[in-house]
Amino acid sequence: MKKVLIINGSPRTNGATSQVLAEIEKGLKKSGISCVDYQLNKLTFKGCQGCMGCKKLGYCCVHDDLSPVLQELKNADGIVIGTPIYMFAVSGQTKLFMDRLYSLIDHDYKPYSGTERKLLTVYSMGNPSENAYVNEQNRVKDAMKLVGLQETIRLSVPGNNVYEYPAKLSETLMRQAFTAGEKFSSTL
Ligand SMILES: Cc1cc2nc3c(=O)[nH]c(=O)nc-3n(C[C@H](O)[C@H](O)[C@H](O)COP(=O)(O)O)c2cc1C
Repeated sequence: MKKVLIINGSPRTNGATSQVLAEIEKGLKKSGISCVDYQLNKLTFKGCQGCMGCKKLGYCCVHDDLSPVLQELKNADGIVIGTPIYMFAVSGQTKLFMDRLYSLIDHDYKPYSGTERKLLTVYSMGNPSENAYVNEQNRVKDAMKLVGLQETIRLSVPGNNVYEYPAKLSETLMRQAFTAGEKFSSTL
C-alpha cells in the first residue's frame, strides 16, 4: 500500500489549512493510500543547526520530535505540506520543517533515497487573489525539488479572513480538495 505523509504547518487545528488537508486525506484514502498526519505545531523541534552531519551520516543529527517524521518520510511515496501564508511566506513552523529536509540529500545534492517523491502543496491566505504569493510558492517548489520532492499539485486557498475561526470554506473548495487528493494518488 502506498503511503503519504500529511504535514500541517498551521497552528489552527480547525482553520482553513486543516480543513483542506482533511479533505485531501479523504480523497487519498478513497484511492487506497495510507496516510499519516503530523501537526508541526504540536511537535517540539529545532530548525536546522547547519552541522552538516547529514552529509556524512545520511540522516539529520538533530534528535527531537521531528526525527521520526524525517525517518518516516524515507518510507513514504509522497508528502502533502499545508501552510497558511504568514507575512508573505510559509508559516514559521513550516519553514523550520523545510530547512530540516536538507538532510534528505547528500553532499552532491542527490537524494539519499535515490528516487524523487511527489509533493502536494496547500497554501491558505487572507489575500483574495490566489496568485498573490506565487513567488513564495515557486521558491518553495524549487527548494523542495532540490531535496528530491517534486511538486505535482498546488492548491491555493485565497480569501480567508483570519478572524473567522473556525474557517468557513465553500462546498466547491472542499470538492476541489477531495479531487486533489484523488489526483495526487494517481501521481504516486
Ligand atoms: C501572523 C499572521 C500573518 C499573516 N500574514 C498574511 C499575509 O502575509 N498574507 C495573507 O494573505 N494572509 C496573511 N495572514 C492570514 C492567513 O494566511 C489566513 O487567514 C490563513 O487562511 C490562515 O490559515 P489557517 O486558518 O489554516 O490558520 C496572516 C495571518 C497571521 C495570523
